[in-house]
Amino acid sequence: MSKPGAEYDAYVQVVRSKSLAEMQQVIPKVREIYDSGTPFFTKEAMRRIVQQIDDIEKGKPGTVSVVGIDGNIVQLPVQTGEVESDIGTPGIEMVYVKARLAYQTVEHLTGIKDPLFLQSKFAYLPFQIAYITEYRNSINKTLITETPLLCFDKVQDDFQRRRAKWEASNQCCQLKSILRTVASKIPPVQKIVVFACSTMTWDDGSRHRSAVQHALILTIRDFLAQLKSSHNINIKCYAQDPLYTTIDKQVLHEAGITVLDDPKGFLEIDETTVIISQAPDIPVREVTADITKPAMMIWNKVVQHNGPPPTPKDSRVISLGLWADPVSSRLLHMVKDYIELDFPEDPINFCKDTCIYIRKTDGI
Ligand SMILES: C[S@@+](CC[C@H](N)C(=O)[O-])C[C@H]1O[C@@H](n2cnc3c(N)ncnc32)[C@H](O)[C@@H]1O
Repeated sequence: MSKPGAEYDAYVQVVRSKSLAEMQQVIPKVREIYDSGTPFFTKEAMRRIVQQIDDIEKGKPGTVSVVGIDGNIVQLPVQTGEVESDIGTPGIEMVYVKARLAYQTVEHLTGIKDPLFLQSKFAYLPFQIAYITEYRNSINKTLITETPLLCFDKVQDDFQRRRAKWEASNQCCQLKSILRTVASKIPPVQKIVVFACSTMTWDDGSRHRSAVQHALILTIRDFLAQLKSSHNINIKCYAQDPLYTTIDKQVLHEAGITVLDDPKGFLEIDETTVIISQAPDIPVREVTADITKPAMMIWNKVVQHNGPPPTPKDSRVISLGLWADPVSSRLLHMVKDYIELDFPEDPINFCKDTCIYIRKTDGI
């Protein structure tokens, strides 16, 4: 049934009302499972799924078993290496280069508005499979990159220059003085894990944000080390973002920051961790809330938004990045155990709604 027209519209209507009936059952059930306290994201599940993906990508036949929040197991295929030639642009094809986890929070699973988008198979899955993709010329197979790339020396030089500028800025001074006022309350820290700080190699208009957000890691590390708590010595710094190039990895390595592949950043987090995240494309806050109560977070303010859950087309979503990293009841509950402080205003390098969260002494 592919021809548009009255017959097609009637067909869509039938499918929609059938899906609506299913949606009306599934969504309250997902919500109920969530409200009963079931974690959606566990380190064990991440390890298990990624191991299966790695095995299949190395040639082992089979599919990936994912356990739904309803306890049922769903088999997902891995399409790595497959090529989509019909992507709407003649002469260009898309390649599924590497499978990765797609994190589906309660807000994603319950936020479907149009029943036509309900996919029964995925209705209870907190983990699905997405892909890192590349575009190629379909004839000569050369890679098509929209953004020019910088060389190692330029990236390193830019990073060092922007780090020095950030360290000398009013915002950085303000940040340190805010942290000094609560220094005695900061729990012991052994690691800093940052998510979604983006690449510094792309020669585009936002790489300054990436550089300064990475510089912030070092500011926090040095600040905490100076507190001279026996716990804060040798703080390890980790960064996770699928956009990192080999140049980013080298520059960050030389600065003392180790790049981790998804989901290894999440596998590192615990109650001695500082998490930094700015407008991530994945639900960093919700995954964190399921795994641990970190010592400190610097991320977008956790606020309850009135009204229905956002959808990808919602203007609030576009302005606040809510859809990728939505706020849930679990997150609101978690931050009750934290002191919340405003991050100094620096809209050029950080999101306007950035806050610092410090776990209260009795918050664990
Ligand atoms: C909207 S950009 C924000 C970039 C930067 N933090 C800023 O404020 O300009 C979202 C970032 O999330 C990153 N991202 C996507 N998937 C991720 C994952 N699985 N782990 C960590 N970062 C991820 C993207 O690569 C991208 O750099």
